[in-house]
Amino acid sequence: MEQAQAQEPTAAYDRIGIGYSQVRRPDPRLGALIRQALVGARTVVNVGAGAGSYEPQDAEVTAVDPSQVMLDQHPGTRKVKAGAEELPFADGTFDAAMAVLTVHHWPDLHRGLGELRRVSRRQAVFTWDPTHRPELWLVDEYLPEIRELDASRFTPVAEVAEALDAHTVRPFPIPHDFTDGFQIAYWRRPEIYLDPVVRQASSTFAQLPASVVEPAMERLRADLRSGAWARRHAHLLGQESVDYGYRLVIAGE
Ligand SMILES: C[S@@+](CC[C@H](N)C(=O)[O-])C[C@H]1O[C@@H](n2cnc3c(N)ncnc32)[C@H](O)[C@@H]1O
Repeated sequence: MEQAQAQEPTAAYDRIGIGYSQVRRPDPRLGALIRQALVGARTVVNVGAGAGSYEPQDAEVTAVDPSQVMLDQHPGTRKVKAGAEELPFADGTFDAAMAVLTVHHWPDLHRGLGELRRVSRRQAVFTWDPTHRPELWLVDEYLPEIRELDASRFTPVAEVAEALDAHTVRPFPIPHDFTDGFQIAYWRRPEIYLDPVVRQASSTFAQLPASVVEPAMERLRADLRSGAWARRHAHLLGQESVDYGYRLVIAGE
């Protein structure tokens, strides 16, 4: 198993994607933002499609992903096993291309973004800006190892926008009851991070060794029990949403 991963690094989700759909439930508010960016597109390619979250219902969607485990969880009929860096489509095949929380997994971001522009007339890319502050308390107080890992994977949004020649960058503050269980989702519900099934569906947690994550989660558990976490974060408990640096970058027609 370890050997197979080393030979095929782009399919890391073949390991961490199991059970993804249970935890990563599309959030309707993020769905509305993405739908708005894709309005009018009749044909859409979803690159790094995973299980198909946020795809428009009124368009013909082609899902692209290098992971067979993820494609198997995708309910669509047009599915192509490929990486963003080499999309097997002719120039201008699609009205629009979407890429949601995937560009940080691409081995060659600029080549992948170039491919989105080549095969589509409009591009909508949802990603996180590593230069944004504030950070999630989880990073600062429990798992500073996340900072280094994410800095090595995520590209500043300004660079993504420039590569796409984007005309719009929309912030998406994360609601307190966000349903899509990626790393930031539980900023106001800290006890959920204690669940290993939830952590498994986030590539950040899944890539850190258990010897790092488990002691940190034990400290969080103790702080929740003693009330120390709630005392430190009383200001967060009254907030509806927080801007943690998630952005939708839109380019093209
Ligand atoms: C966090 S998931 C996001 C899936 C989906 N877009 C969503 O919003 O739920 C990241 C996806 O990117 C895919 N991926 C990894 N490397 C890729 C590459 N080089 N090209 C395209 N997709 C890739 C993974 O297999 C995985 O399905």
